[in-house]
Amino acid sequence: MDKLTITQPDDWHLHVRDAEVLKTVVPHSARCFGRAIIMPNLKPPVTTTTQALAYRQRIQAVTPENRNFQALMTLYLTDNTDPQEIQKAKDSTAIHAVKYYPAGATTNSDSGVTDLSKTYAVLEAMQTLGMPLLLHGEVTDSQVDVFDREAVFIDKILIPLIKRFPSLKIVLEHITTRQAAEFIGAAPEHIAATITPQHLLYNRNEIFKGGIRPHYFCLPVLKREQHRQALLDAVSSGNRKFFLGTDSAPHSQANKENACGCAGIYSAHAAIEFYAEAFEQAGALDKLEGFASFYGADFYGLPRNTSKITLLKQAWTIPDYYHFNDEKLIPLNANQTMRWQLG
Ligand code: NCD
Ligand code: ZN
Repeated sequence: MDKLTITQPDDWHLHVRDAEVLKTVVPHSARCFGRAIIMPNLKPPVTTTTQALAYRQRIQAVTPENRNFQALMTLYLTDNTDPQEIQKAKDSTAIHAVKYYPAGATTNSDSGVTDLSKTYAVLEAMQTLGMPLLLHGEVTDSQVDVFDREAVFIDKILIPLIKRFPSLKIVLEHITTRQAAEFIGAAPEHIAATITPQHLLYNRNEIFKGGIRPHYFCLPVLKREQHRQALLDAVSSGNRKFFLGTDSAPHSQANKENACGCAGIYSAHAAIEFYAEAFEQAGALDKLEGFASFYGADFYGLPRNTSKITLLKQAWTIPDYYHFNDEKLIPLNANQTMRWQLG
């Protein structure tokens, strides 16, 4: 097959940051995706409807006019989120979910939740209003091995959470392990997961190939090959509970290539092409459309896109870098050749 036409996809987990760099990263996502769930981990975080609406305007202001790209906003959950904010968010129709970061788990998560029990009144309101909770599913306990933090999160946090809020809509974001794939596969309809391109394409060896390679470091960190295989099996099965979320997370070159480099992989420049390569490897290109274009919209209760995109089997080379304010942004697979290209 050298040409693949699918319904326009959406990105259900995206970081675009703010201010000047929006001009670089928003057009990358808008070249292909119809909609994206925008993560709220700015400094300071987007915790209110008013802030989210202002942020949406800043994104809209840099969206190329010939694109029908829509930013779907989220709120950042804190210990102090007011349950009434959820009603406001729902009424705005612009806010589609609330994001839970365990305090200290990842980039800009200092204001995250220290103890989920502090947010029960908010979760109650979300359950009642059908507002999805998006989970960064890793425990932060320094005693727990960094490669086990997702599996331990499922046992210690997610299972009790589902027991307490049995009809709360939940997305376990950027899953990386066999345990997560199996858990979500067996969970009820209103509990789903997003999967990034890097976790489908690479195992943890990629971080250490020939030296330490910070542009392959994200959180949750890449795992063993057996886990990558479990994720490929999950998407190849055509199960509607798994859908596309790039977790494209831009950082400047200086913040990545650093003695204490930031977590985050930038993939928006070639997101759908990366997924096409992963699905092709798995012999599952026929399952790409459901994963990329249908199941996320269905989960969020939004209409599926109607326009189409075409992917061509046509080699092209990813640039060395993009401008990122007055710094550089190193894209995933910089200077490497891609097999698929957006037509
Ligand atoms: C994200 C970021 O940089 O904002 N980083 C990452 O490694 N995925 C935060 C996140 O989603 O964990
Ligand atoms: Zn993320």
